[in-house]
Amino acid sequence: MTDTWEVRPSGPLSGDVEVAGSKNAVTKHMVAALLADTPSTINNVPDVGDVTITASILRSLGVGVERSGKAVTIDPSGPLDREVSVEYTGLNRISILLLGPLVHRSGEAFVPMPGGDKIGRRPIDFHVDALTAFGATVEETEKGVIARASRLRGARIDLPYPSVMATEAVLITASLAEGRTVLTGAATEPEVLELALFLQRMGAQIQRQPGRRFVIDGVSTMHGASTTLAGDRLEAFSYLVAGLISGGQVRVKGCPQASLTIALTTLQSMGADLQITDEYVAARQTLPLQSVAIHTDTHPGFATDWQSPLLVLMTQAEGMSVLHETVFEDRVKYPADVIDAMGGEIEMFNTCLGGPNCRFADRNAKHSVVVKGISKLVGAEVEIPDVRAGFSGVIAASVADGMSRISGVRHLERGYDNPFDRLSGLGLDLARM
Ligand code: EPU
Repeated sequence: MTDTWEVRPSGPLSGDVEVAGSKNAVTKHMVAALLADTPSTINNVPDVGDVTITASILRSLGVGVERSGKAVTIDPSGPLDREVSVEYTGLNRISILLLGPLVHRSGEAFVPMPGGDKIGRRPIDFHVDALTAFGATVEETEKGVIARASRLRGARIDLPYPSVMATEAVLITASLAEGRTVLTGAATEPEVLELALFLQRMGAQIQRQPGRRFVIDGVSTMHGASTTLAGDRLEAFSYLVAGLISGGQVRVKGCPQASLTIALTTLQSMGADLQITDEYVAARQTLPLQSVAIHTDTHPGFATDWQSPLLVLMTQAEGMSVLHETVFEDRVKYPADVIDAMGGEIEMFNTCLGGPNCRFADRNAKHSVVVKGISKLVGAEVEIPDVRAGFSGVIAASVADGMSRISGVRHLERGYDNPFDRLSGLGLDLARM
């Protein structure tokens, strides 16, 4: 399928979008299912590239993966290979989570270097240190990571930063490790808690304690379970912005309000008129949008993944807006480049603007931006770098003057459920080249 879209601005985008389960939850559930000795079923699975990649990795190991509509069943009961092929190098980040389950099963595992979005430096030191604490010998080679242990044992692990996937790796690995694991400094994103609940359904003994603390008492066997994923809060926000910026209104269904709280409040503080019901959330412009100062943070702060669409929205808000990215040191560069290419007035700074100093204060990393609105955006040829900056490029193109050609849409399709059909359905003039 072609990797380039032509986008022509076509006025307000309006309509309903029902978001399915979140991309950042489903793939972790698929890996967790390997801990069981019977099949698990995950419902409300989104139709995104990351699920296809993860299914392919699991099948290559000998895991049964069946997809039927929005349900995916994972059958880990047969014999499994212990090595993920290097042909999966860089395709997504999920392979790193397989180390724990595969070592539990076979005493040894190899996974190729994880990839994922181009959002700057993405080290795996927390994963390596955690596995080492569980008693594994871990070797990093140019090709990937090898871990070995005859038995993984519970450990005390204090994460230096509340990393989402490192937390998930610890929860998954600790579930079958011998004895007690105490995890502090853990991430508490909704997708992490969803995974913890799934592990509990599978028989894991997990307690979440006040603060960023989990206590996991390892069990000797786990069984398959069934779960229905909550709607994707990152996708939901992207569609809210797509409607709002174009002067239309997208009613987003299927996403819990609780996982969008600060995102909705931010839109409200920019002057958006919100509608929140049991059935949907929606945001529309009744007055001109106003500038805002935001810093991204771990949950329950403003998520780093909401930053890209917000930056595009800032270009259409009156006055100077500030965004300080505190989760990934290079991430603002990607949407900023897209906005810059479309003529938006955006400038990057290596200081911590508009908030307290963050971990990147002394790193010379350009991680704050000032956006001057209202910027007239013009259609451009843009190569999209990652999932979120990609969707944001399309949002920007929807309000730009003239046609844009957006290439690299495979990144977008890796994380958004049928974006071409959904955006077309909302009224955007899109064509595949
Ligand atoms: N970090 C380390 N060492 C590690 C792991 C992380 O220094 O071993 C640092 C990172 O460099 C970063 C910070 O910790 O500065 C937080 O990264 P985190 O580990 O939380 O990110 P992740 O787990 O790799 C997931 C999502 C991202 C989302 C982040 C933050 C998945 C597959 N990805 O990544 O989602 O932005 O958490 O919430 O769950 C996206 O959906 O577009 C996306 C990139």
